[in-house]
Amino acid sequence: MNIIASGWVALGFLFFFYQVSKVSAVESVVAKKFATDEASLDLELSRLIHAHQINAIYTDKSQSADKVKLGQLLFFDKVLSGSKDMACATCHHPNTHSGDDLSLSIGVGGHGIGYTRVLGETRLLIPRNAPEIFNRGSPEWRSMFWDGRVEIDSHGEINSPADENLPSELLDNVVAMQAMFPVTSRQEMRGRKGDLDITGKPNTLAAMGDTDFEEIWARVMARITAIPAYVDLFAKAYPETSIDDLHFAHAANALAAFQTLSFAFEDSPWDRYLRRETNVLPTKAKEGAILFYGQAGCSSCHSGTLMTDQKYYNILVPQIGPGHRDSAGFDIGRARVTDKKEDAFAFRTPPLRNVAITGPWMHNGAYTSLKAVIEHHQNPLEMLQSYDVSQLDRSLGKTFRLNTSTILLMSQTFSPEINVVPDLDNKEMEQLIAFLEALTSPSSKDLSHLVPESVPSGLPVDH
Ligand code: HEC
Ligand code: HEC
Repeated sequence: MNIIASGWVALGFLFFFYQVSKVSAVESVVAKKFATDEASLDLELSRLIHAHQINAIYTDKSQSADKVKLGQLLFFDKVLSGSKDMACATCHHPNTHSGDDLSLSIGVGGHGIGYTRVLGETRLLIPRNAPEIFNRGSPEWRSMFWDGRVEIDSHGEINSPADENLPSELLDNVVAMQAMFPVTSRQEMRGRKGDLDITGKPNTLAAMGDTDFEEIWARVMARITAIPAYVDLFAKAYPETSIDDLHFAHAANALAAFQTLSFAFEDSPWDRYLRRETNVLPTKAKEGAILFYGQAGCSSCHSGTLMTDQKYYNILVPQIGPGHRDSAGFDIGRARVTDKKEDAFAFRTPPLRNVAITGPWMHNGAYTSLKAVIEHHQNPLEMLQSYDVSQLDRSLGKTFRLNTSTILLMSQTFSPEINVVPDLDNKEMEQLIAFLEALTSPSSKDLSHLVPESVPSGLPVDH
């Protein structure tokens, strides 16, 4: 190599090192900027978390193992239903994220589970969407159902469809109070007068009147305790109560204990972030959280630890489905409970943990994408007027009521609180959705371990 050539080689090396150092300088500038961006996001978010007093979800896990075991078997046992064809799990199955994947639930007489479930002949859809039942054991819960018909009100009074018939002194909490009602509902579990059960015998629970709560509960309990394995399970769960003193309320408490423990999930990226774990929340989700608790106004209703204020709003969600016969085929929501005209079409703000995996959304499953749900919040009236029925099953789509008188009727009780939601651009929409996705607990995705092999009645368990 002559002297000139080696000069070139040396220059080449120099140039190479110059390039490398330039790249890494750029990279470190980017990294620094990224770190400061991330740090300023964290700072802004911690300010909002503090201002809104947001805490990670917490559920009481001190449930007795014997009560939970009993509750699990009851939850999957169709012996609780009039025709022995429905269990709680039919509509709140672990494999469908504790809901049923349907817009509107299919009750007595239906077949299958999940979105392939089909309606029984001559039966109607249940007018409402089966909510997920995650984290209902959090102590903040005061109301159950989309219309809050089971609730502990602000004066500490207990309201329910059974009024003074509800044995509230025996019931552990609002989740247990809720569990008293599916067995009394003709559509959900009890059946119609004249129905035969799956063995062809008369459905004895359907014969009673709709307000004979005490008698219905007594008969369901008699059915359960006629099975020796349940007698043992109750004796273990309630060692101080003799078998003759058991009330369906004891079964309801066990159902609540099972739901509380088994559907409690505290490991969503958002909850981990709230517990001050770092590097768990994607940047986009942080940006979404800042919108949610800031400018997008979401937290004015989806507030607190549960992400619901447990209040009722009419945000003009399209009316679909059979509704209720006593209100001209509409579902008037909270007004069914309060009898107040101003509460018509108002529904309880839903909680949002695991929301990304629990569609279809809204009280009647009217929307099948989160984007459409958020768009609806931005422009309720326009979204109602231009509602796209093609997202529904065809027969359900046909039930959508769009005419001037329906819109006028619904608009009369519109909740102006929803106007806090501004128009959001595509980027903001993506950020909000990323935040909603960060509310999904990874350990809630596969819950098949909650499904028992068999139940004491020997009736089939849906797997
Ligand atoms: C036919 C389907 C079906 C069956 C069976 C069923 N549910 Fe539900 N469940 C629903 C629907 C629909 C709602 C909402 C009804 C409403 O708001 O009016 C609901 C509401 C609930 C809620 C209230 C959640 C909340 O935050 O408001 C809980 C808890 C629940 N069910 C538990 C149970 C238990 C326990 C059983 C068995 C004893 C049961 N469900 C049986 C469909 C069903
Ligand atoms: C005025 C109160 C209010 C505000 C503000 C609000 N929501 Fe809602 N949200 C509701 C009510 C009420 C429903 C249920 C309406 C119904 O089904 O009729 C709902 C439903 C939802 C659902 C569907 C949940 C489910 O399980 O079906 C999502 C997701 C949601 N809201 C997200 C948001 C986001 C994101 C924002 C902010 C952009 C927001 N909400 C702002 C009251 C509010």
